[in-house]
Amino acid sequence: MDSASPSATQLKKSDDPVAARQSLTVTDNRTGKSYELPITNGAIRASDLRQIKLDPADFGMMSYDPSFNNTASCISRVTYIDGDAGILRYRGYPIEELAEKSTYLETAYLLLHGELPTATQLKDWTNHISHHTFIHESIKKFLDGFHYDAHPMGMMISAVAALSTFYHDAKDIFSAESRQLQTYRMIGKMPTIAAFSYRHSLGMPFVYPDSELGYPGNLLNMLFGTTGVRYRPNPTLEHALDVLFILHADHEQNCSANTIRGVGSSHVDPYSATAAAIAALYGPLHGGANEEALHMLHEIGSVQKVPDFIRRVKAGETKLMGFGHRVYKNYDPRARIIKRVAYEVFDLMGKNPLLEIALECERIALEDDYFVKRKLYPNVDFYTGLIYQSMGFPMSMFPVLFAIPRTSGWLAQWQEMLLDPEQKIARPRQIYLGYDTRHYQTIDQRKDAPGA
Ligand code: CMC
Repeated sequence: MDSASPSATQLKKSDDPVAARQSLTVTDNRTGKSYELPITNGAIRASDLRQIKLDPADFGMMSYDPSFNNTASCISRVTYIDGDAGILRYRGYPIEELAEKSTYLETAYLLLHGELPTATQLKDWTNHISHHTFIHESIKKFLDGFHYDAHPMGMMISAVAALSTFYHDAKDIFSAESRQLQTYRMIGKMPTIAAFSYRHSLGMPFVYPDSELGYPGNLLNMLFGTTGVRYRPNPTLEHALDVLFILHADHEQNCSANTIRGVGSSHVDPYSATAAAIAALYGPLHGGANEEALHMLHEIGSVQKVPDFIRRVKAGETKLMGFGHRVYKNYDPRARIIKRVAYEVFDLMGKNPLLEIALECERIALEDDYFVKRKLYPNVDFYTGLIYQSMGFPMSMFPVLFAIPRTSGWLAQWQEMLLDPEQKIARPRQIYLGYDTRHYQTIDQRKDAPGA
């Protein structure tokens, strides 16, 4: 390098005409050609890569990003996460403030409308949702058809998909009025479907919604109420459930949000798209992790056995469920709040005996090099199961308790996708590495491989 000219790093931004241009210059070493790609909001457009070609017949360059590790699929204004700093905000409001000061229904309004409601708006919103908590009697019959030990998530996926057959107006997805109505219906009916699925598993009669109770109180009544006695939800448990609902309401572009956007991009009705999102949530790597985390704590069995379990995790034999996150590389801020709620519930219901095992797992993991190096911290699902169990929920209900509040987030993501003029039907590309053309062989021409 010429000693008189400053190195690239020595150049001040303002002196450097390229840096000032908000663009990325890429040189294709196969052809020696350079391309200037505009940078907007810290990203380049993947379609701008298509101009990079070997010759005019070439399809053009693509980016390869299995499981979307570094691909923004949308522009969103709903939820913000800074995974390194452990920050989560809905519409700009820190999750800690919402958990302390808001209610689930108010937070759901915020997610869907972008602003906190006024007193009149909140009253109207709450009235509409409680007006739509009943489900058609035919859905009840349909739920009755499930086997007594059917997993409630399977029942919920099916029942929500079935709602599309009752509300034909839901197809009118570009009508703001129709979207609003389906939103009331879906947020209103999710607790009812969840509770009816649970009561079915016990062979107990369904308890109908009670609009005099709040959103979490009504759910507790439908789950645990018995005939003849007026059920009064305990305010501590009702509050704990409401806080958990706030924490679970949205989480930007996770697997199920991406699913509702992807399925919804075909312009199917919101019930079908939400059913797909619930299915995505059911998986043990996503919302099913709270159930799996509790199974794991049971399997560990005692504090003394934690070190051996951690050894198995490090050997790659199993996973520490409720740990790790694609985005959080710091303590999940929801897990911190949940730990506090857990103690409020334990003070009332007695300490969950599995808590000591969970705390020991966390203590060892936070000090162990394996977890520290990989930045694996407890996520939202590590402690929720302990709270739900202490509140009397069976394990199979845990992912259902995640799906109920996430419905508002899914619908906010769905609506944002529909109204975004840049969004089209989701259709990723692939890199095909399979066979080139080959010709059909009749069955007598095909030979078993030796030893098969
Ligand atoms: N236990 C042990 N090792 C883990 C764990 C875990 N829970 N999570 C990640 N790792 C290891 C993983 O084996 C890999 O190691 P290596 O680099 O040696 O191959 C490294 O950490 C990076 O993990 P990854 O699988 O590449 O990370 P990912 O971003 O693809 O997966 C995850 C994220 C949440 C699926 C994963 O951490 C996991 O499976 N956790 C357990 C399930 C769980 O708790 N899920 C709930 C997520 S939060 C609620 C929600 O949003 O649904």
